[in-house]
Amino acid sequence: MDDALMAQLKERAPGLAALFSAGSKAILDADDLAALEEARVATLGRKSPLVEMLRSINTLDPEERPVLGRFGNIVRRELEALVEAREAELKRAALDASLAGERIDVTLPGQPFPSGHEHLISQTMREVEDIFVGLGYRVAEGPEVELDYYNFTALNTPPSHPARSAHDTFWVREQREAMPEAVVDADRGVLLRTHTSPVQVRVMEQQEPPVYIVCLGKVYRRDSDATHTPMFHQVEGLVVDEGITLADLKGTVHFFAEEFFGGDRAIRVRPHFFPFTEPSIEVDVNCELCGGKGCRSCKYSGWLEIMGAGMVDPNLYGFVGYDAEKVSGFAFGMGVERMAMLKHGIPDLRLFYENDVRFLRQF
Ligand code: PHE
Repeated sequence: MDDALMAQLKERAPGLAALFSAGSKAILDADDLAALEEARVATLGRKSPLVEMLRSINTLDPEERPVLGRFGNIVRRELEALVEAREAELKRAALDASLAGERIDVTLPGQPFPSGHEHLISQTMREVEDIFVGLGYRVAEGPEVELDYYNFTALNTPPSHPARSAHDTFWVREQREAMPEAVVDADRGVLLRTHTSPVQVRVMEQQEPPVYIVCLGKVYRRDSDATHTPMFHQVEGLVVDEGITLADLKGTVHFFAEEFFGGDRAIRVRPHFFPFTEPSIEVDVNCELCGGKGCRSCKYSGWLEIMGAGMVDPNLYGFVGYDAEKVSGFAFGMGVERMAMLKHGIPDLRLFYENDVRFLRQF
């Protein structure tokens, strides 16, 4: 209420002026919504002196009626406006208080939520797989419990072949009870595959050339020391098409080496022997740690051996019904653990299987 109106009110209706002062003080003093409601009822409720006066206005002296009626209504509206304003003020204060109380400090460190990730071996397999899938290869699979026939015989390693002994095989069932049929029968034996190469034969049995596949998985040998574990992982690659040469194999391996190890890499090939490739080679990639000068990790040779490979021995095509006059191909095989060790400088194979999170977390 402005001062002029207040002055008029005081002069013409001092009783109403007193009611207004008391009422507005009660309203403004209310410091929560309940107190405000109490003040509202006391000043503006049905039984408040103001409202009772307005209700009984026609019982008043006729000369006073218009004055009290007019000022009474002004006072009521003013008080109602005060209640409304005070209510809004208290509500805003309550909201501010609860916002302040519930404020979140977004700069506080969060609750760490431990999440796992793939083992380095799985990551490495995926990386290798991606590189070959990018070259148009298909991913093939084969059983870990394998027949002697696929693991050895159809890979040019018949029962009497001396190369068998190099594989330290875990036999599941050996069919060698009786001799000499046993020797003939041996390829019906069951074993844990000693390499991924049996997948070569299985794929060729199932499809006609062209073949471009990689197979990644577990293999088993009866071996256990600092550089061997009874189970490890290999990657097998097989290409059979028309006009495939050793140059294609070298180009493919060079591309793979640069993709996998990064940078400009050099490869070199050395003659080797595998029963199912002819010629056979071992492939090395240049050691980047010492720039080829020789260091511990390359055994002072400047080169790191990464895989065995070779041209598919045409004899294999006889096992799967391919025309050796028409097609040629290459195959390669590498150890996943070895690739991961070379790439990340891991000194001991056993670290992969101890499952010490301090090691695993680093990759
Ligand atoms: N299978 C061979 C091994 O485990 C590696 C290899 C694969 C060699 C393919 C040549 C071609 O020793």
